[in-house]
Amino acid sequence: MKIRNAQPWDLAQIVQIEGLCFPEETAFPPRMFSYLIRYAVSLVACEPDKKVLGFIMGYNSGKAGAVYTLDVHPGYRRKGIGSRLLASLEERLALLGAQAIRLEAALDRPEAVELYRKAGYQERELVRNYYGRGNHAVRMWKNLDVSVCLTM
Ligand SMILES: CC(C)(COP(=O)(O)OP(=O)(O)OC[C@H]1O[C@@H](n2cnc3c(N)ncnc32)[C@H](O)[C@@H]1OP(=O)(O)O)[C@@H](O)C(=O)NCCC(=O)NCCS
Repeated sequence: MKIRNAQPWDLAQIVQIEGLCFPEETAFPPRMFSYLIRYAVSLVACEPDKKVLGFIMGYNSGKAGAVYTLDVHPGYRRKGIGSRLLASLEERLALLGAQAIRLEAALDRPEAVELYRKAGYQERELVRNYYGRGNHAVRMWKNLDVSVCLTM
């Protein structure tokens, strides 16, 4: 498995995985992924035959970075792919100048909150109705060790 930049031809597989991870009402639409592949920091975890196993998308603005979304194909979970994608995105955002990274995780996805906690993110605030009425999120932050990134 390797992690590389997402490319326009990954779109169909990304949309398919999103459909396996989220109900239609909350899934990102294909045009949003198309935009993020082009303009955000978008990485995919894939096999040598180009099968996409998971993806992560984020962006950087000055000293702050953010994670937009992280999905791993249901057939490939608990193998460390989500954690590796997150670590790769952090490296990329740090190289772009991020000193801290923010994300929102749905409260009804405790496995995601646990992954982020394990990666060093701390819960800062509850964001009510972030994913629509009654679907709350927790906002989490992690300060990056910038000195590590500067030696990479
Ligand atoms: C959340 C998600 C990305 C995790 O991906 P993954 O590749 O399975 O994660 P990892 O294997 O790197 O797991 C890292 C740690 O997170 C925690 N974790 C992950 N899945 C878990 C689960 N189902 N239950 C409990 N803890 C879990 C564990 O602490 C795990 O470490 P361990 O396996 O050594 O115990 C994946 O479940 C997913 O795509 N879910 C649907 C989309 C989603 O909810 N995305 C997050 C949006 S906020």
